[in-house]
This record gives sequence, C-alpha cells and structure tokens, in this order.
Amino acid sequence: MIANRINHILARMLQTSPRKLAAIFLALCLSLLLAVVACERSSSQVPSRAAKMPTPEERGKYLVVIGGCNDCHTPGYIETDGKSPAESEWLTGSPVGFRGPWGTTFPPNLRLFMNETPEDDFVTIAKTRNQKPPMPWPSLHNMSEEDLRAIYRYVNSLGPKGQRAPEYVPPDQEPNFPYVVFTPQHLERLGAAAH
Ligand code: HEC
Repeated sequence: MIANRINHILARMLQTSPRKLAAIFLALCLSLLLAVVACERSSSQVPSRAAKMPTPEERGKYLVVIGGCNDCHTPGYIETDGKSPAESEWLTGSPVGFRGPWGTTFPPNLRLFMNETPEDDFVTIAKTRNQKPPMPWPSLHNMSEEDLRAIYRYVNSLGPKGQRAPEYVPPDQEPNFPYVVFTPQHLERLGAAAH
C-alpha cells in the first residue's frame, strides 16, 4: 500500500520533474542574463572608472615626456634634464638643426602645427608620414589612436606659441642657422674592431 503510494509519487515526480527542471533552468538562465546585462549597464554608467583614468590631456603630457618629444622639439630641455624651460614653453620648436646625409632638418614648432592641423589629420599624419631623420616616425606610427589623440589634446591645451622653426635645407646647401652634425665618422673602425 505504502510502496504503491511511493511508486506513484516517484512516477509523478519523474514525469513532471523534467518539465519543471527545464522551466527552472530557463528561469535561472534568464535571471542570470538579466543580472549580467544590469551589471554591464551599471558599470558603464558608474563614473568611478572613468574618473580614475587620467584625462586625455594628462595622458598626453605623460606620453610627450616619456616619448622624448621635448628632447628635440623644446630647446634647452635635454640639457637641463627636463627642468627647463617651463611647461608653457614646451614643444615650440628649435632653431638648431640636425645635419646629415638627408640635409638639415629643424624640429618644427608643434604648438603651431597642432593648432593648425585638425585632430583627424594629425592621426593620419602620425600613422603614415615618413619624413627625414632624426624624427622618430616609427614611434608615432606604432602609437595607438587613443595615444595620438591624447598627445594632440595635450599640445593644444598648451595653446599656440612661439616662432616657426627654420625650413628644411637640402644636403648640398649650407644652412643659415646653427646645426648639429649627424654624420657617422670613421665607419671603417667597425671593421677594424672586429679583427
Ligand atoms: C631626435 C629628435 C626628435 C624627437 C625625439 C622627436 N622629434 Fe618630431 N621632428 C623632429 C624633426 C627634425 C622633425 C622634422 C622632420 C622633417 O622635416 O622631415 C620632426 C617633425 C615632427 C612632426 C611634423 C611636424 C610638421 O610641422 O610637419 C611632428 C608631428 C612631430 N615631429 C612630432 C613629434 C612627437 C609627438 C614626438 C615625441 C613622441 C617627437 N616628434 C619626437 C625631431 C624629433
């Protein structure tokens, strides 16, 4: 009698449980999905993550400093271990050129350049331009778009300032400005050192 009843209950359970289980499973999946969506929504709405990130301008300043842009584009910077000139004078270009087999190039005034160039054009130039040494174009080519835009925003936040740097001078002409000679000397010593 009792066994019969248990059997009956078991049979009922077995019959109904798959459906019930499926329903419970579906309900669980749905609530999990809703929880994930809600979680993603709230995390993108919460300002704390963005607030913790530096602004593009702060990031741009950091990239300019570690990227060594001041070394060439800011007169006096490298000689003073970055202590001078004041930040307001940074990236105003240099009247001292670099002379090598490519001619003489002068680090342009980036404060004027960025001010005159639309942001998207700057990104394209930075990604594709290949000009003369010693500008480290490969460094710019390999920067992410986000980094390039940060540099652009930072330089523009400083505002336009200073004079235009002298024009490029071809190899066979003597520049009217001071320059550093970048021509390798005594390359034959490389061979001698190997012996
Ligand atoms: C070793 C010296 C040197 C360093 C370091 C350097 N530059 Fe330059 N840069 C130059 C020179 C020289 C030119 C001009 C090249 C030419 O005329 O072909 C130039 C050109 C440029 C130009 C083109 C501007 C124009 O008016 O057309 C941009 C943009 C630029 N540099 C950005 C940067 C940034 C950003 C950094 C740091 C990540 C940097 N440079 C680091 C020397 C340097």
